[in-house]
Amino acid sequence: MREIDGPACAAALLRWYDGAARVLPWRVSPAARAAGARADPYRVWLSEVMLQQTTVATVRDYFHRFTARWPDVHALAAAPEAEVLAEWAGLGYYARARNLIVCARAVAAAGGEFPHDRKALQALPGIGTYTSAAIAAIAYDAPETVVDGNVERVVARLFAETAPLPRSRPRLAELAARLTPQRRPGDFAQAMMDLGATVCTPRSPDCAACPVQGFCHAQALGIAAQLPAKAPKAAKPQRHGLAYIARRSDGALLLETRPPRGLLGGMPGWPGTDWPDAAQTPTPAPPLAADWRLTPGTVRHTFTHFHLSLQVAIAEVGPQAEAGRGQFRADFDPGALPTLMRKCWDHALAAFGDIGGGAPLR
Ligand code: ADE
Repeated sequence: MREIDGPACAAALLRWYDGAARVLPWRVSPAARAAGARADPYRVWLSEVMLQQTTVATVRDYFHRFTARWPDVHALAAAPEAEVLAEWAGLGYYARARNLIVCARAVAAAGGEFPHDRKALQALPGIGTYTSAAIAAIAYDAPETVVDGNVERVVARLFAETAPLPRSRPRLAELAARLTPQRRPGDFAQAMMDLGATVCTPRSPDCAACPVQGFCHAQALGIAAQLPAKAPKAAKPQRHGLAYIARRSDGALLLETRPPRGLLGGMPGWPGTDWPDAAQTPTPAPPLAADWRLTPGTVRHTFTHFHLSLQVAIAEVGPQAEAGRGQFRADFDPGALPTLMRKCWDHALAAFGDIGGGAPLR
């Protein structure tokens, strides 16, 4: 078992963080914290939910827009679900947004304060092991250990843990907990994340610039860049489908709201086939009778568990067109579409200018 002097390692990391902390819109700087400022739990919660599976660079603008529009949990709780989902469009993993609304409403109904305790936090929708630890540590300075992918990488290297992920995950969490200090656990959590994001990066860690280099067993062994080891991932299957984009002569677009559960749940989208796995061919079932044209090429998108290739059929229809499925919506903002549906729209736009040209859909 490789040992590390946890308190000394944490102190070195915190000293580095005092000078090198990234300036992030949801963050209270270490200087402000030292002067007594506290993070707003609402902003911590919102940012941590947004940052799951999404980069800091992408989250920044979304975070600014959300907090400008809904500055506290009561405001978000009172917002119509469709408006929150429209602001979330493009961030992906839409169950997060649906849980966000349910969680905001639960917290607002209980008076507006987020619980301090991890277990109570975890009873709220969308708040699991990671988010509860992040809120408790960053918003309330509870000595909780926050473990995301960056922290796993830093810890795997510090302790030269060579067992592969995901099997090593519980072990890495245990090792991370050994380093977490009683003082400044919120700054420590953010310092670990910053170190992972800026110095202890996946492919080429900048060990020369690392404030905890002297504690790092992987660096001493010359294996930092190889860690964490990862079990080979199963290849993602390829799926196929077809989306129908109908535009009425007044510009209204035929859209439907996707079922609340499942992929892109609750989000607006184009009517279409299911996306069965490779063995089956989806059966076209147009949402209304029209002169459908198949646009050339396909739209490609990757979800967590599969790649999707969508064909896009388009039709211009008259003002009286009646849809068997979905609704015509005037003044619909394509910015409210999830990324896959937005890609279909961009793909279709080019073809609408040339609608006589596509192959008829049979
Ligand atoms: N990634 C996830 N949460 C973060 C945070 N609070 N600060 C920086 N990067 C993060």
